[in-house]
Amino acid sequence: MDKPVGKPSKVEALKQASEYLRLSIPEELKDGNASITEDAATLLKFHGSYQQDDRDVRTQRKREGLEKAFQFMVRVRMPGGKLTAEQYLTCDKLARDHGNGTLRITTRQAFQFHGILKEDLKTTIATVNRALLSTLAACGDVERNVLACPAPKHDPVHNALQDDADAFASHFAPRSSAYWDIWLDGEKIENPAFPPAGPALVPTEGDDKVEPIYGKLYMPRKFKTAFALPEDNCTDVFANDMGFLAVVEHGQVVGYNVVVGGGLGTTPSAAKTFPALAKPLAYIPRADLLRVGEAVIKVTRDFGNRTDRKRARLKYVIHDWGIDAFREKVEEYLKAKLTPPRDIQVTDVCDHMGWHQQGDGKLYLGIPVENGRVLDRGDYRLLSALRVFFETYGTPARLTCMQSIVLADIDPAHKPAIEAWLGEFGIASVEEISTVRRWSMACPAFPTCGLAVTESERVMPTLIDGLEAELKSQGLADERFTVRMTGCPNGCARPYNSDIGLVGRSALKTDDGGNVAGTYTIFLGGSTLGERLNVLYKDYVPFDQIVSELRPVLERFRTERTAGERLGDFCHRHGIATGVSASKYVAQGSETVD
Ligand code: HEM
Ligand code: SF4
Repeated sequence: MDKPVGKPSKVEALKQASEYLRLSIPEELKDGNASITEDAATLLKFHGSYQQDDRDVRTQRKREGLEKAFQFMVRVRMPGGKLTAEQYLTCDKLARDHGNGTLRITTRQAFQFHGILKEDLKTTIATVNRALLSTLAACGDVERNVLACPAPKHDPVHNALQDDADAFASHFAPRSSAYWDIWLDGEKIENPAFPPAGPALVPTEGDDKVEPIYGKLYMPRKFKTAFALPEDNCTDVFANDMGFLAVVEHGQVVGYNVVVGGGLGTTPSAAKTFPALAKPLAYIPRADLLRVGEAVIKVTRDFGNRTDRKRARLKYVIHDWGIDAFREKVEEYLKAKLTPPRDIQVTDVCDHMGWHQQGDGKLYLGIPVENGRVLDRGDYRLLSALRVFFETYGTPARLTCMQSIVLADIDPAHKPAIEAWLGEFGIASVEEISTVRRWSMACPAFPTCGLAVTESERVMPTLIDGLEAELKSQGLADERFTVRMTGCPNGCARPYNSDIGLVGRSALKTDDGGNVAGTYTIFLGGSTLGERLNVLYKDYVPFDQIVSELRPVLERFRTERTAGERLGDFCHRHGIATGVSASKYVAQGSETVD
């Protein structure tokens, strides 16, 4: 249980020198260049933005002796995926005025703008804040967007989860004034999502005055938290560094089973990195949420690896120490014993699509958004449709961890008009799309993500077309299982605990030197409920052969499954995939720069 020794990584030195996340960002914003330096870009992540370039034109520009087409991704943090109609409309306008005309709903209940130019970065972030949303800590080595079940049911249990996610997000937001100084010229907008001043709840020796929870060096690496219900693991709680699984008695959340050490990111070619699912730590009464959260975060802060960023997540501390030693250390920080976890299991996942009763006389409607991309393309005009919807009805919305949107607080009298509106803008209702499309996800990859080795979002619809035809011909069209694709091993669409995981492996070149989709690693045997990692089935599968590689698996599933058995469970029971477990998966590829 020692701290890792060695020279702090470059990013640690940068954080130390940054004066609480300032460094040269203010000056570089004004220097007239299209890009910022690598150091400033590293710190910019804490402010919610990644420097990227348009990879579709990278080669061409290089040939012409031009610099990269720099642009910025800006991520809007919204705990539990909640936003008002006005906030939605602000995001829509920003995406059209300064972004690439699309909004991207992420797998962590946030919006991303893509294609923001440096000259528009300040206006974009300031406008987000004026709408009482934030980009602070949407990326970077801090507590990221906090997840909670988005169903707007307004019952005590769902309300408790949303309230606790808000409180958690607020308590663990960075407190340095750098954010407001840089983006709002020092104006601190009164925002319920901004942190309350005050000391840490679990004081430790030498607590920093500016950042009492994080200290000057913040976390060793990103830290992700989710709240879920046992009967609805829609936030994929085990994929997070820390998860809170609600314990409900007499219709009230009385406490949580805390799970720790999940994280799916791997570093290509580094054998010491692997995906992991969170393990049970303790049961805590609801009132202890922030205190226990703080103890876990502070242990991670103090013992996470700061010499090697590839091993800096909490999952490696727990792997190296064992969960019992980790629990002892958390107890030492808390100066109290923890209670063993309650015996509760995750039993289902709901994607909240379609029409539902809220329980207060209102309705909510979940609209599936393919790979989270809100755009207008041909007859499909989701971007325009949502703008009209929010302008007309003014009701709030929630984003889901499956990259979709839930329209909340709908007056039942408006249902016929809303159904007509869907048709008018060419938007399929959940009943009109296939089960396999409904339960699939893909990360952005090309052209924005600097780490992508293969396509993902742009080719997933084609893959799903093929899978739909295959499933239909085998009579399996109604089967519910998750298919998740990423353009590299980092795992942003959570491929490693899905029924079918497709992870970008290598770029395939065409004769004229361009890229086609690429080759993929197929993983099988995870679970729709998210509580099991999958196993490598086939490697280096060219995109156009993925469906034919899956065909025999689906045939066996059709003929040999037990009644009601899900695809991932079947593959797991029969050991259909015989490669390495995702927990030992290491791909060869480009090095991660995050
Ligand atoms: C450790 C490795 C990882 C690195 C270096 C990394 C880096 C990135 C980058 C650069 C993007 C922006 C891509 C774009 O929008 O163009 C991104 C998106 C995203 N990442 Fe990661 N990521 C990692 C792992 C993960 C994991 C394990 C998760 C969640 C389980 C995750 C969740 C997300 C989400 C939610 C997005 C937004 C887009 C989406 O929903 O697909 N990331 N990541
Ligand atoms: S999985 Fe890889 S390619 Fe996809 S968004 Fe994440 S880092 Fe980029």
